[in-house]
Amino acid sequence: MRMIKRALLLACVLASGTAAAAAEEGAGAGADWLTWRAADDVTNTASVQRGARNFMSYCLGCHALKYERYSRLGTDLDLTPEELQKYLIAPGDKPGDYILTTMPASDAATWFGKTPPDLSLMARARGADYLYQFLKTFYVDSSKPTGANNLRLDATAMPAVLSELEGLKRAVFKEQQETGSDGKAMTVRVFDHFEQVAPGRLSAAQYDEFVHDTVNFLDYVSEPTQAARRALGIWVVLFLLVFTWLSWLLKQQYWKDVH
Ligand code: HEC
Repeated sequence: MRMIKRALLLACVLASGTAAAAAEEGAGAGADWLTWRAADDVTNTASVQRGARNFMSYCLGCHALKYERYSRLGTDLDLTPEELQKYLIAPGDKPGDYILTTMPASDAATWFGKTPPDLSLMARARGADYLYQFLKTFYVDSSKPTGANNLRLDATAMPAVLSELEGLKRAVFKEQQETGSDGKAMTVRVFDHFEQVAPGRLSAAQYDEFVHDTVNFLDYVSEPTQAARRALGIWVVLFLLVFTWLSWLLKQQYWKDVH
């Protein structure tokens, strides 16, 4: 029992540590962006619900979740059919429908040069931290067709669709001397920090929360049963412990007369 308590305590300390780190980064100039962590927690239903709304409002225009049905979302996120209809289901869609974008793939390819990928499994493919860093490192770049670029995915075809919320930021690069593989010195351009050039509707902390919820939702979608599976796992382990104890008692009974 002491061991379990200690393990739980350690888990809490670690979790609060990453959460605090995530909050701090919101205001940072971004030099440490590669160390940013999503601190995702799919058991936080309120956060996943907010993330679902964020997705429907800001991502569904281009991206689908083709393996997830609205009805499944309703059940997993503890929503009544009315709430589901009111807050999440896109106009014209029914609860049994898959969550599909209305943007035709051929148009998307013409407009962006690339079809926006389906995001159902993106959190599993790239990892939650990647998504978190991706959504927080868009910057103004007038040399790109979309007017934006991204630290995580250089020359990305995705426009900075959240700039209305986050505001606009410029990336400041510095030149650095490095020794190449051939042993010669060369100058490379490395990212130094971000500079806010226009404010958005949200503060840095609020935007951080927005991205955190959105990534949490995508993490849930990439494996909808994970929260239930973990909850069930605890009961399975408890059952095994009780069962072991009962078996041991039974063994004592059977063997008590054998010397
Ligand atoms: C205006 C259309 C549009 C909207 C809206 C949009 N995206 Fe994208 N997204 C794209 C395109 C185009 C790509 C392909 C980018 C590439 O491969 O360069 C993409 C790629 C991505 C990727 C994959 C990145 C990778 O590493 O391959 C992720 C993750 C993503 N989008 C998340 C989101 C999220 C989350 C939202 C909502 C907040 C969103 N997108 C809204 C167009 C959009």
